[in-house]
Amino acid sequence: MCGIVGYVGGQCALDVVLAGLRRLEYRGYDSAGVAVLADGGLAAARKAGKLANLEKELADRPIPSGPTGIGHTRWATHGGPTDANAHPHLDNAGRVAVVHNGIIENFAELREELAGRGHRLTSETDTEVVAHLLAESFSSCGDLAEAMRQVCRRLEGAFTLVAVHADDPDVVVGARRNSPLVVGVGDGENFLASDVAAFIAHTREAIELGQDQVVELRREGVVVTGFDGAPADDVRRYHVDWDASAAEKGGYDYFMLKEIAEQPKAVADTLLGRIDAGGALLLDEVRIPAAELREVDKVVIVACGTAYHAGLIAKYAIEHWTRIPCETELASEFRYRDPILDHRTLVIAISQSGETMDTLMALRHAREQGARVLAICNTNGSTIPRESDAVLYTHAGPEVAVASTKAFLTQLVACYLVALYLGQVRGTKWGDEVRSVVHDLARIAREVEEVLETMEPVRELARSLADQNTVLFLGRHVGYPVALEGALKLKELAYMHAEGFAAGELKHGPIALIEKDVPVVVVVPSPRGRSVLHDKIVSNIQEIRARGARTIVIAERGDEAVRPYADHLVEIPVTPVLLQPLVATVPLQVFACELATARGNEVDQPRNLAKSVTVE
Ligand code: M6R
Repeated sequence: MCGIVGYVGGQCALDVVLAGLRRLEYRGYDSAGVAVLADGGLAAARKAGKLANLEKELADRPIPSGPTGIGHTRWATHGGPTDANAHPHLDNAGRVAVVHNGIIENFAELREELAGRGHRLTSETDTEVVAHLLAESFSSCGDLAEAMRQVCRRLEGAFTLVAVHADDPDVVVGARRNSPLVVGVGDGENFLASDVAAFIAHTREAIELGQDQVVELRREGVVVTGFDGAPADDVRRYHVDWDASAAEKGGYDYFMLKEIAEQPKAVADTLLGRIDAGGALLLDEVRIPAAELREVDKVVIVACGTAYHAGLIAKYAIEHWTRIPCETELASEFRYRDPILDHRTLVIAISQSGETMDTLMALRHAREQGARVLAICNTNGSTIPRESDAVLYTHAGPEVAVASTKAFLTQLVACYLVALYLGQVRGTKWGDEVRSVVHDLARIAREVEEVLETMEPVRELARSLADQNTVLFLGRHVGYPVALEGALKLKELAYMHAEGFAAGELKHGPIALIEKDVPVVVVVPSPRGRSVLHDKIVSNIQEIRARGARTIVIAERGDEAVRPYADHLVEIPVTPVLLQPLVATVPLQVFACELATARGNEVDQPRNLAKSVTVE
């Protein structure tokens, strides 16, 4: 939510900042702005709407540039997406500029206080108070980093702040509390950004900033302190293991298409190095001792959106393979119901970005109650793994499209690995059983590839449905969360009414929605395994068909029993029952992407959304 860039070095700051914003636009696209220090002063430009509007503004009315600058791409919280609310925000003298991600909860009282001292605030944002407070503090201490520390001590809420001051033109200062900010360490130049993608074209060396820290960035170096001014002793430098090409479209029209296509590799990479020669699991990053894992008497999974759907599927695997009770809960609801947790509870927090505020707050609550927390995360150095007891990284590579695809599949792989590992450690799974599932998982990458090779009819079908208002999704067992995920994808990309149901619930209400020609996607469980489930869903398909629904059936290859009832049949490879979501979800991603394209929607940047939801 909101992308922030800061730069100081030998290049033209405006160019570096704009290029960084282009890579961060997935974080918010309500407005964009820049501020650069040049010719002893500060020049700024900001514009409502996408970054392209700002670029046009800069082409029409160029601003001078120097070696120091900051930029912002916004997802609006306080104040609508207007020019006046766009960042950077400046003080009345136009000497300080600040960009912000997060919410400053006590901004109203600070605003009143500033107005009382004669400051004129011109936007509806919570951010503007920071520019004025920084100007006041700087005028008394003459040091931007110290001014930032003084201001941060007065702020409540979640914030990443990055600021420049015309009287200190060689420095950019950043601060973070509960919101992401990373430092890019270059040669004679340094960077600040919400995400390494912003500076990956310049450097792959990064520093994680900790909670309540201020960073002072100069060409020649970086100094990190706490809000209290004490030097930080936990500064961790790391090397980013992907390069700029991974964050580019690579010939695809959209990032989403590229990320769907990358799924076989992402799945295979997530398995790499986690299985020993004998087929046993080696999860080195799970630093919770085996003795403690044997003591676990409950697993609770917390996550949001697509990651939550991965967690719903994980519940089936964890309970089946380990016999430990498992609950999956929306992170945003978790801590408010006073959940029962203790040192024998294992909480699994799933997050692609590692920055989702609801998930972060849920895991903090769990740790306060004594539970152990294992993060499943795709972003190295992000807050959720930093604050967890252990982490299992998914190796999906950067996911840029707002709609999550490859992250979901790799989250599933990681969940299966954790479930098997728990089974292995606790002895509920024999070595040969673990090896057999691992073997099945190792084959999945190829099977996902096969699905991708047969998607043209799904694209054609999606195009034919572009004028529909509603699409329903049904599933049973692990197919139920797949149905929820299919519906979520369609909502966020095609802006259509889409709902996922457990097929068994149909007759308890949702069947009233069925009328002539309503498309209903049905995810059919394997006829092998619990065949009773298969028979029941075949009956469900007949029930909706009898009421006029147009059935789009996703079923295992060779499942002849469903064929007569499918208006459109999408065949997927034969997989073990619990692993079916890894292949069944892919057609639904393709379906949503194509439908959104046919409706003329922005696939990578759907309206009202942002990739990383860093506010509650
Ligand atoms: O970064 P996270 O995995 O924590 O994000 C969670 C959700 O915000 C995310 O999955 C969201 O639902 C996606 N846009 C869905 O495609």
